[in-house]
Amino acid sequence: MTTTGPAEAPPPEPGQKHFDATIARDQRIEPRDWMPDGYRATLIRQIAQHAHSEIIGMQPEGEWITRAPSLRRKAVLLAKVQDEAGHGLYLYSAAETLGADRADLTERLIEGRQKYSSIFNYPTPTFADVGVIGWFVDGAAICNQVPLCRSSYGPYARAMVRVCKEESFHQRQGYELLMTMMRGTEAQRRMVQDAVDRWWWPSLMMFGPPDDASPNSARSMSWKIKRHSNDELRRRFVDMTVPQAAALGVTLPDPELRWNEERGHHDFGTPDWDELARVIKGDGPCNTERIRRRRAAHEEGAWVREAATAHAAKQAARDQEGAAA
Ligand SMILES: [Fe+2]
Ligand SMILES: [Fe+2]
Repeated sequence: MTTTGPAEAPPPEPGQKHFDATIARDQRIEPRDWMPDGYRATLIRQIAQHAHSEIIGMQPEGEWITRAPSLRRKAVLLAKVQDEAGHGLYLYSAAETLGADRADLTERLIEGRQKYSSIFNYPTPTFADVGVIGWFVDGAAICNQVPLCRSSYGPYARAMVRVCKEESFHQRQGYELLMTMMRGTEAQRRMVQDAVDRWWWPSLMMFGPPDDASPNSARSMSWKIKRHSNDELRRRFVDMTVPQAAALGVTLPDPELRWNEERGHHDFGTPDWDELARVIKGDGPCNTERIRRRRAAHEEGAWVREAATAHAAKQAARDQEGAAA
């Protein structure tokens, strides 16, 4: 029989020490560095969710590419939607540096085991929706993603630098589109206001639940993956958007929205958190359709993946033959 003394905490691993010191110094963790399992798992989940959002996010606006009202609008929209595909690809690559498998992440998405942003489950019935998505949704993405350029995980932070530059083009194209419509006919102005009314609250929900209902946020902030809380980012978005709405000549659909001199921020109403919970659970207006289309695209693209794999194998065999000769 062995005798054991009082339980002692094991000494911290050298890897843990290096990790803690790197985070404390505000430096970057790189793929080859030791990292806690929870840090790795949190990042894989967050980056995968982000990648899925970029790819699913192509759908609501993509529907308007064939119906854009002019060649110029079509070219701009096409470029924007292609950018979102690129964002998805950088992000899947960043997840791969953590040991995730891209095919597995895609499976998880189409089987409903991994989430994407709630915002992409809302419909785009008019062309004004394209403008409002650029203004609100890409605007909210900028608020969320600019601080991620300083995220503690190197590959994620670096991907965000380029992504943010492109998001800023997306926001401008949306705002410019709306400006043009607001200078048009009364019907066009009504169309813009209607899209603003429909997208405002779902856009505020993009920042996630309120801080007191967001239990994982504190840990992500202590690891410096996340730099600001959901409520803080939401407040920034409101402060940024209110003057833009005034310049555009639209009304944001919130009777409680007003400038608070004392706080130096806007006061605003509470989003419908039950709606957010429903949409996240799969009960939004377009959840089923988004996943159905993503699944169909994946299945229809199987031959491309097979052909690319066969080509790569042939190429590798040829290279080997060349090296042996
Ligand atoms: Fe994007
Ligand atoms: Fe974007």
